[in-house]
Formats: sequence, structure tokens, C-alpha cells
Amino acid sequence: MKVGALKESKNNEYRASLTPSSVVDLKNQGHEVYIQSGLGHGINFEDEDYSKVGATIVNSTEELIAVSSLIIKVKEPTEQECLLLNEDKVIFTYLHLAAFPIQHKLLKESNSVAIAYETVTSPNNGLPLLAPMSEVAGRLAILAGGQYLLKSSGGKGILLNGVPGCKQAKVVIIGAGVVGINALITAVGVGSQVVILDTNIDKLRELDKLYGNRITTLYSSQYNIIHSIKDADMIIGAVLIPGGKAPKLITKDMLKLLQKKTVIIDVAIDQGGCFETSRPTTYDNPVYEVDGIIHYCVANMPGAVSSTSSFALNNATLPYILQLANHGYRKACINNIYLRQGLNIMQGKVVNKTLAESINEVYVDPIELL
Ligand SMILES: NC(=O)c1ccc[n+]([C@@H]2O[C@H](COP(=O)([O-])OP(=O)(O)OC[C@H]3O[C@@H](n4cnc5c(N)ncnc54)[C@H](O)[C@@H]3O)[C@@H](O)[C@H]2O)c1
Repeated sequence: MKVGALKESKNNEYRASLTPSSVVDLKNQGHEVYIQSGLGHGINFEDEDYSKVGATIVNSTEELIAVSSLIIKVKEPTEQECLLLNEDKVIFTYLHLAAFPIQHKLLKESNSVAIAYETVTSPNNGLPLLAPMSEVAGRLAILAGGQYLLKSSGGKGILLNGVPGCKQAKVVIIGAGVVGINALITAVGVGSQVVILDTNIDKLRELDKLYGNRITTLYSSQYNIIHSIKDADMIIGAVLIPGGKAPKLITKDMLKLLQKKTVIIDVAIDQGGCFETSRPTTYDNPVYEVDGIIHYCVANMPGAVSSTSSFALNNATLPYILQLANHGYRKACINNIYLRQGLNIMQGKVVNKTLAESINEVYVDPIELL
């Protein structure tokens, strides 16, 4: 199979969809690998690092797509990239097509096969290709929040772990999924006081077993949220309703209850955000204030730690890339029901049920087309 990795072109997006290590594994299994020049710059690799392990470097997007049958990316394809696809091309990347109607239309018109990382599932109902980025975002949230607690960044002037005789920062995490647990690991690790809330008692039970009295677990009722956020220094929004918009758990009115300069980090911003006053921001300007409360709502947090994120993403995507390359997408998706869930668009049809429902399109079972 001819496998090609496109360079990312989004603002502040430095991740790479293939690392040199992944190229080695693809080459070992007999595949030809093409890399767009500059692919590794954001993760500290030169073109030479890829050519040394057997990849062929091509200069342009046009050339890369023309020569590859399986195209790997991180973020959704640009309009220009969509226009270069055709029925002989398979693209495997994060797509979030419900949020990108132009890409959705162009991918259908291209007749290409579009497989989304975020809808590949696992036997335990997890989202294995989304989880690594949630791990990164959860851990990063505490570090980003710590930065905005500094007086020099316009914050309260609070050290995350305090010092003997002075209390540590209080971090409230709403949502005990992958983001929430990773935020908790980091917050406990740096020595903050942590309260975590979820509506799923089993998740709280697990955390209680692991951390005992070191943390406080609370059922996520409005009453408990209100009482825990009043003296918080940092609040992390990490909820997810699969397939739905995030519920607004902190309203504009509730901001009045918070201490001035509290930092609120809405990691769930990519699903609309779980604080009423959240709006997406970028690394160019990550924060803004509403009623004296610092809002941090960067929609692509993992992009800032591009190297860690690219390695974490490759660890998760490589087994699926190898299946697609070794067997071709038809056989790979027939053999693996979880990979099949990743199919979003095929032969101009929407073949993912949740996507079809969310954009009011007709759903076609991919098995009929494979
Ligand atoms: N901004 C970014 O860069 C970035 C990066 C990665 C993930 N995310 C987003 O972060 C969010 C969380 O992702 P995840 O992987 O942790 O999801 P997850 O499914 O692992 O966890 C979500 C948790 O929210 C809980 N929940 C649902 N309703 C709740 C409520 N009312 N109160 C409290 N908890 C509630 C669920 O029980 C679950 O434990 C998603 O929207 C995801 O897309 C954003």
C-alpha cells in the first residue's frame, strides 16, 4: 500500500500524523511511505529523519495525495485537500464532520472513503483514538490553569501546592472521564486540594478506592457544584454526553458566586462547552475575562505539546493504520467492527449513524457498501 502523511496547515497546529518510528513499522510490513516535506518540523524531526528510515519526501499537498492510496492526517482536511481526493483515496484523520459542513459536502462529492479517528470504538465502548488527546488535555489543563493563577499572568497569585503554613490551590474538576481523571492525577501530583464531581457513581467509587481521603468525590448535582466552586481557585470542565452538546453546568449567574480571578478551564469547549460564558479560544489568545473570572477555552489544547501528542496519537493510530494498509480498507473494516465504526463517508453516502442523525442525513449501513 502507498501510505502518505500530509503536513498540517491549521493555525498553531504542530502535530504530525506519522512519526519516524511509525514509518519503520509500515516499511517493515512492506508498504511504501510518502511524507510531505516539513511534516516533522513541529515535533523536532527533519525530512532527513524520515528519509533515513525509508520514507520518500514529496514537496506539495497535490503530489502527496496523487501518489498515496491511504492518506493520514491529524486534523480535518482543508477544502483544497478535499478537492484533490477521489474514489481511489482513503483518508484517516480526526474529521468532526458534524462541525465542518463544507468538508462533509466535499468529501461526499469526492467519493473518497473518509474514516474518522474519533468514531473508532473499542470492545469496552471506549474511543481509543480520542483517549490519548483527552489524556494530554486533562494533564495540560492543570499546568495551563497554574499559569493563570500567577499574578504575573493577571491571576490570583496562588501557588498550586502552597507552602508549609499556607493552603494549596483548590481545584474542582467536573467530569471524571479521561480528561477529568488525568487532570486529577496532575493536580494531586503537584499537591493541590482536589474535588471531583460526576453523575456516574461507579467512576467516583473507582477514584475513592485509589485516592481515599486525599481527594473529595461528589455526585454532580447543581447543589454540590454550587457549594464546591465558591472557594475554588481553578475549575476544570471535563464532561461529555456522547453524541450530544455539553450541558451548561456553570451559568453566567453562578459566576457571581466565584472569587475574582478564579480560573475556569472549559476543556469540553469542542462540544460547545460546559460553562454558559465559554467561547472557543486559540493559543494566540487563550484567555478572556467575564465578570472578573478568567476563562481558558482553547479548543485544540494538545497542539501545544505537539511532540508528546504526536507520539501518543501514533501509539494509538498505528495498529489501525497497519490494518488498513495490510488488508485494504474493505477487508480491514469487514474484519474489525470497531474500525468499521470509524467509517464516516463512503461512495458519497453517510455511513456513521450518529453523524447522520446529527446532521439530518440518510444513514447507510457501511456493510451494504463494503
Ligand atoms: N479542548 C481540547 O483540546 C480537548 C482535548 C481532548 C478532549 N476534549 C473534550 O473534553 C471532553 C471530555 O472528554 P473525555 O475524553 O474526558 O470524555 P469521557 O467520556 O471520558 O468523560 C466524560 C465524563 O463526563 C461525565 N458527565 C456527563 N455528564 C455530567 C454531568 N452533568 N456532571 C458531571 N459529569 C458528567 C461522564 O459521566 C463521564 O465520566 C469532551 O468534550 C472532549 O471532546 C477537548
